[in-house]
Amino acid sequence: MKEFDRHRRLRSSAAMRDLVRETHLIKDDLIMPVFIEAGLKGKSEISSMPGVYHFGLDTILSEIDEIVHLGIKAIILFGLPDHKDEVGTSAWEDDGIVQQAIRLIKEKYPDLIVIADTCLCEYTSTGHCGVVKDGVVLNDESLKYITKTAVSQVAAGADIIAPSNAMDGYVAAIREGLDNADFKNTPIMSYAVKYASSFYGPFREAADSAPVFGDRKSYQMDPANRLDALREVISDEKEGADFVMVKPSMAFLDVMREIRDHTALPLVAYNVSGEYSMIKAAAQNGWIDEDLIVNETLVGMKRAGADLIITYFAKDVAKRL
Ligand code: PBG
Repeated sequence: MKEFDRHRRLRSSAAMRDLVRETHLIKDDLIMPVFIEAGLKGKSEISSMPGVYHFGLDTILSEIDEIVHLGIKAIILFGLPDHKDEVGTSAWEDDGIVQQAIRLIKEKYPDLIVIADTCLCEYTSTGHCGVVKDGVVLNDESLKYITKTAVSQVAAGADIIAPSNAMDGYVAAIREGLDNADFKNTPIMSYAVKYASSFYGPFREAADSAPVFGDRKSYQMDPANRLDALREVISDEKEGADFVMVKPSMAFLDVMREIRDHTALPLVAYNVSGEYSMIKAAAQNGWIDEDLIVNETLVGMKRAGADLIITYFAKDVAKRL
């Protein structure tokens, strides 16, 4: 018989498979998203994301208690303000909902890494990530509001700024703003590779941030493009990003690998809302095994090169690890 290789030797038992496993998911990989809503008493479940809640200032610490006790080291905060205007003023107010939440959380848990998502879409009356004039989302004009937001978030105690607004030059603008405010040591986690994706649907319900007109295709990336991702990462590195992100994850694992092979910065995968909801819905129907599917999905992101994963499954996964 012709000679052949015996790959099955290394798969012969659970212990043998453990010995040769290449990729591991650990608690340190996980970042849990948290939604804080102004004026809300208690918590309310997001209908398209079962198991994910909006929290009020009165309940947020009980959620953080749970996250910290599960051994998760970082959260990313999203805010739902009680007032919106054309420039997103409630994003950078000193007593803005995110700023208040950060102070509360950091007072109790100074060691928890609090990442602030820095965008305007939850705070503008247009639902766009920048300011709009004559139907156009203005780039340079938006940068000053985005920078003000970042500075106020760090002043409130945020450990990392994560800009998701997809304007050109936001890393440079925020870096300069932070440095001038004497926040030289605060890292920027750039949503460098952010596609204009339909997978954000449930989040836009959760964050009340859907654009009132049009879409985000003039600032977020075309899902068909790979080289555009490289250009974005090259720019953000030059501008001073400390982490780069690829978002969404499941349909973009090739891009993740590509970016991993081109940058020495820590790489973050965002396992977005639509990816969460799809798995939840199928699991609720009894069509798939949720825990196994989640593990396989997240391990796939790490195998593709991600160092960190932002995922609504973070608490569930941490419970199993
Ligand atoms: C804000 C922002 C979005 C997400 C994170 N930050 C939505 C968007 O760009 O429309 C999506 C997160 C998710 O779907 O889980 N710009």
